[in-house]
Amino acid sequence: MDKKTFYITTPIYYPSDKLHIGHAYCTVATDTIARYKRLRGYDVMFLTGTDEHGQKIEAKAKAAGVTPQEFVDRIVTGEKGILDLWKLMNISNDRFIRTTDDYHVQAIQRVFRKMYDNGDIYKGKYSGKYCKDCESFWTETQLVDGKCPDCGRPVQDAEEEAYFFRLSKYAKPVQELLETGTFLEPASRVNEMINNFIKPGLEDLCVSRTSFTWGIPVDFDPGHVVYVWVDALFNYCTALGLYNDRYDDFDKYWPADVHVVGKEIVRFHSIIWPAMLMSVGLPLPKKVYGHGWLIIDGGKVSKSKANNSTNVIDPYILAEKFGVDALRFFLLRTFPFGSDGAFSNELLISTINTDLANDLGNLVSRTTAMIEKYFDGVLPAERRAEEMDEELKGMIRALPERYARQMDIYQPHVALEEVFRCIQRANKYIDETAPWILAKDEANKSRLAEVMYNLVEALRVCLICLTPFIPESCDKAFGQIGAQNCRSWDDAVYGALTGEIRVHKGETLFPRLDMDKTMAELEEISRASKAPAAKPVLPDVTIDEFAKCDMRVCKVLTCEAVKKSEKLLKFTLNDGSGKPRQILSGIHKFYEPEQLVGKTVVAILNLPPRKMMGQESNGMLLSAVKEVDGKEELHLMILDDSVPAGAQLC
Ligand code: MSP
Repeated sequence: MDKKTFYITTPIYYPSDKLHIGHAYCTVATDTIARYKRLRGYDVMFLTGTDEHGQKIEAKAKAAGVTPQEFVDRIVTGEKGILDLWKLMNISNDRFIRTTDDYHVQAIQRVFRKMYDNGDIYKGKYSGKYCKDCESFWTETQLVDGKCPDCGRPVQDAEEEAYFFRLSKYAKPVQELLETGTFLEPASRVNEMINNFIKPGLEDLCVSRTSFTWGIPVDFDPGHVVYVWVDALFNYCTALGLYNDRYDDFDKYWPADVHVVGKEIVRFHSIIWPAMLMSVGLPLPKKVYGHGWLIIDGGKVSKSKANNSTNVIDPYILAEKFGVDALRFFLLRTFPFGSDGAFSNELLISTINTDLANDLGNLVSRTTAMIEKYFDGVLPAERRAEEMDEELKGMIRALPERYARQMDIYQPHVALEEVFRCIQRANKYIDETAPWILAKDEANKSRLAEVMYNLVEALRVCLICLTPFIPESCDKAFGQIGAQNCRSWDDAVYGALTGEIRVHKGETLFPRLDMDKTMAELEEISRASKAPAAKPVLPDVTIDEFAKCDMRVCKVLTCEAVKKSEKLLKFTLNDGSGKPRQILSGIHKFYEPEQLVGKTVVAILNLPPRKMMGQESNGMLLSAVKEVDGKEELHLMILDDSVPAGAQLC
């Protein structure tokens, strides 16, 4: 029989900057659900990707002096980019879509044409407010204090010829969709959508732009590019093969079982997305789950928020420092998935210490250490149960169902609560049974074996439930308790581990952290990370282009300040030609003239002559520049005096 399918997606992230812990939160949560469904025997398709078009990326690329494609390539596929991050975080996505992929681009053109052909897209004039950062159009009434209601940044007036999608036509069916069933969860988000967006009247949506070019061209009307949200939302279908030949499992996986998204994009996913799917005649996704935000210092975690905070939000730094599983675990254990949660360094450290080092880590190490000590690592089959074992056994027997109930309704933090109740109960069971006393008398051997067996079984069933959250650590722990071959969902039953049980006390899974020391280290990292990022490397030049710059070693013959100028120094240089050369340089803030006379410096000689403060400059002295604490620091290139004047740089 074919396995049941399960299609789950994350939002496709904007590669406009490095991703932070908030993006990692959503991806780790989605990954955990995907892994859980695989554990339950589903044929899972887990999709994530990047949303690469739009005005913001075009503007950022321009500022960085690269093409938009070069810009996104670096953030997505470059070193420590998005792909590397998901690899590091052990994300098990089956597919990764980039909206600049050819197959997607062509498919979106077909989608757009289809909506146009069926009369749902028409040409009009757009005038309104546009938030560049969110790629969102807003009406005047939707603004909050005149600013973007999502991010609070200023919006721009925008007017241009544009295509519109008849969103208003779908207001009724979308409202019905939201009001019946469980299409949008948590349920609290339903009223928000209906009251804020549908009841005030759904306006038609502007779905093309002409004022920038970094987007998918409307193929029947050159000059227009498709609105980035139309391009982005359909990724969920094109990545399965809708209107393209790259993939062919659309029929197998569509409609999606769940789109996991942050609450700020619920509007796009629960109103615009279903309306567009209705327009092209495709089935609707079964669910949109809008999770909450990680908050620092009262606001959504973001690059700019982090600048005023001592909290570290770079997932690379956190994963490297604490381990990938500790970070994954922390994110899902601490914050109720549907609500906002306050993220902090301190909470991260205390969660690792309490749950992972104390509760789980201790249970593994105590259990394996005792079996090694009392039974040379091999647990005998002869065991004697007692009444007092029943409470623990009962909890283990009940755990899989209780856990699954929560996982099935996207409450991973409650599922973890169930698991940790069992882990805490098992630790208490050690204190109650006092194995170190039982071990004193040979006659208690079979009783001691039963106690140890119950601990192994408690651990084993808990580890099966924890595998989707912390896969690598569970793998190691299964090895330590000798249960590598007894870890499927069907094995999540008390008593499934039979035969010879051989344990190995291995490395400590989660070392305890010193709170003060670790906090101080994180604060130091946070301080250091606020130093301005290195400027990106500029686009390639050929060796021939480089060779056109005539850079030579010069000796400073004279140097004096230029009158009435605070910045300029005037140099007479020996450039090796036998004729003195005059160059002006704006470095007085960093050097006094007398410091430089006689020095060996480097100048580019073949720049066109330039007048400054009425004096001619024939070239430019080379310096190294860096911003430190918000101020520019400049160091003139000064070479060893043995290098002769006129020597060329190559
Ligand atoms: N490109 C759009 C999504 C298109 S989906 C068809 C987009 N991208 S984004 O890069 O801004 O990522 C948004 C998602 O990242 C949020 O919906 C959320 O899942 C996650 N998060 C970003 N910051 C977050 C927090 N501070 N807290 C929790 N999740 C956060 O919107």
